[in-house]
Amino acid sequence: MKTKDIPTRVMRAASGGRFIVTIDGPAGAGKSTAARELAKRLGFTFVDTGALYRTVGVAATRAGIANTDGRALSKLLSGIIIEMRPGTDRQLVFLDERDVTEEIRTPEASMAASAVSAVPEVRAGLLDLQRRLALAGEARSVLEGRDTGTVIFPDADMKFYVDASPEVRARRRFDELSAKGAAVDPDKVFAETVERDKNDSTRAIAPLKCPDGAVRIDTSSMTVDEVVAMMETTVREKM
Ligand code: DC
Repeated sequence: MKTKDIPTRVMRAASGGRFIVTIDGPAGAGKSTAARELAKRLGFTFVDTGALYRTVGVAATRAGIANTDGRALSKLLSGIIIEMRPGTDRQLVFLDERDVTEEIRTPEASMAASAVSAVPEVRAGLLDLQRRLALAGEARSVLEGRDTGTVIFPDADMKFYVDASPEVRARRRFDELSAKGAAVDPDKVFAETVERDKNDSTRAIAPLKCPDGAVRIDTSSMTVDEVVAMMETTVREKM
């Protein structure tokens, strides 16, 4: 990836209106939908950090590189270009000029993303890109992921930690995949949800955890609208 190192503090000083919102939590907690909608309502840039890990996973699979081979993944990262481009109704993800928006959402890509995200070289390689995407333009962004409030922006202006029970999260994942026409087995989706949780929260580097100072939201019995409304009110009060 072609990246330029822009120190976060310098960017912050240069942009008086900076406002960074981070949303972390496990898979299927409802954070993607909520984060995208919150960004839209606030007029902020949306940074889907999981999409970047998914793209690296897809790139590795395509190149025949093992998901755990740090050295090879590091080399791969330095040679690829990942871009987020605005689409008509959603953000599009490009890998070396190729639209991978759909491809990165398959269950295989999810597993590959989970594996590459445990590799320190991959996390280090994506760190700067994530900060640059969030600080571009007005520097008013909503970042969504697993470490956005702990590692990427520990000094975020507003942090949320979104969670839900594993059963509810697997059910949401299943509904999401079924709606796309995928023939999925609910038991398999549940098993994958539990496995990804374990990978994400027990890995040595940037394990999933509630960031210091984050507002916790349990979405198990909340609608997306309720979650977004709660977030929007909290952010506007803080702004
Ligand atoms: O949110 P998602 O399902 O698109 O994320 C895909 C994978 O990437 C998931 O296994 C966790 C990982 N990830 C991460 O480690 N750190 C992030 N900031 C975002 C995602």
